Amino acid sequence: MMIKRTQIQHKPFFTNQDDTFVLFHADSLDVLARLPQGSVNLIFADPPYFLSNGGMTCQSGKRANVDKGQWDRARSPEDIHEFNMEWLSLCQRALHPNGTMFVTGTRHVIFSVGFAMQQLGFKLLNDISWYKVTPPPNLSCRYFTHSTETIIWAARNQKSKHFFDYQSMKLDNAGKQMRSLWSIMPPRKAEKRFGKHPTQKPIALLDRIIRAASQPGDLILDPFNGSGTTGIAAALLDRRYIGSDLDPQYLRLTVKRFLDLEGEPDLEVLRERVQQREAKAKIAKARVVA
Ligand SMILES: C[S@@+](CC[C@H](N)C(=O)[O-])C[C@H]1O[C@@H](n2cnc3c(N)ncnc32)[C@H](O)[C@@H]1O
Repeated sequence: MMIKRTQIQHKPFFTNQDDTFVLFHADSLDVLARLPQGSVNLIFADPPYFLSNGGMTCQSGKRANVDKGQWDRARSPEDIHEFNMEWLSLCQRALHPNGTMFVTGTRHVIFSVGFAMQQLGFKLLNDISWYKVTPPPNLSCRYFTHSTETIIWAARNQKSKHFFDYQSMKLDNAGKQMRSLWSIMPPRKAEKRFGKHPTQKPIALLDRIIRAASQPGDLILDPFNGSGTTGIAAALLDRRYIGSDLDPQYLRLTVKRFLDLEGEPDLEVLRERVQQREAKAKIAKARVVA
């Protein structure tokens, strides 16, 4: 099946003054194909789940249709796998030889993503279980409550010498090695004050991923930008960012979140906390070297 592409838009939807935060209103496959080979240090991807198929879910304690949008309409397993192979191979091309990527997903897509990565020769580093701590109840009472998402961490290929900030992760876990089971709450109300995205990720999740696998100044890419959580965390951590999305309403939401970063007490606190952690990690690293 040929994947229908939207028209390539060379002009960014938004860019800040020093081009460290750039958004494209475009199909991520086109954006990825245009990026210079090996230019991206870290990719985070939260691809479509393809689960909007008329089923039911629980939202704010009430029964609701699973309808996240046109981008999430159900497809056959073969079509889903073909799509995953295509965007993942373009990510692999864009990644720096030592670059890594994190892909998050539920059972609807994550097995295809993992298999596609194996087929493409990525080096699988970890499969992380993100425990969502306060999941909505399962209304049908016929399944375990869905309370985790799997995050695959993989390097570009078997030769990659990937970066891992071991000390910073250890500090986050009270001085013990960080495990692959992460208890992180869903986004707080304050993170949704400019509008909602149906699958918005918490800043705390991206904060951990970006600090674990990149360094200040690195280029971070999210091909499925959504509400821009990856970009916001990247900006807070002084990384450069490129995001793309098919839906302009989510890009407008991202711009609002980005422009609000300066002077917002809530996020200022977060930025300070992040900087303190980085300073502590540097001290710990210096001690190890000494
Ligand atoms: C699962 S959501 C990502 C949510 C995001 N992680 C956040 O924290 O808000 C997937 C997003 O990808 C976008 N999308 C789907 N297919 C796309 C494509 N081919 N190119 C670019 N964006 C796409 C959708 O519009 C949707 O906003």
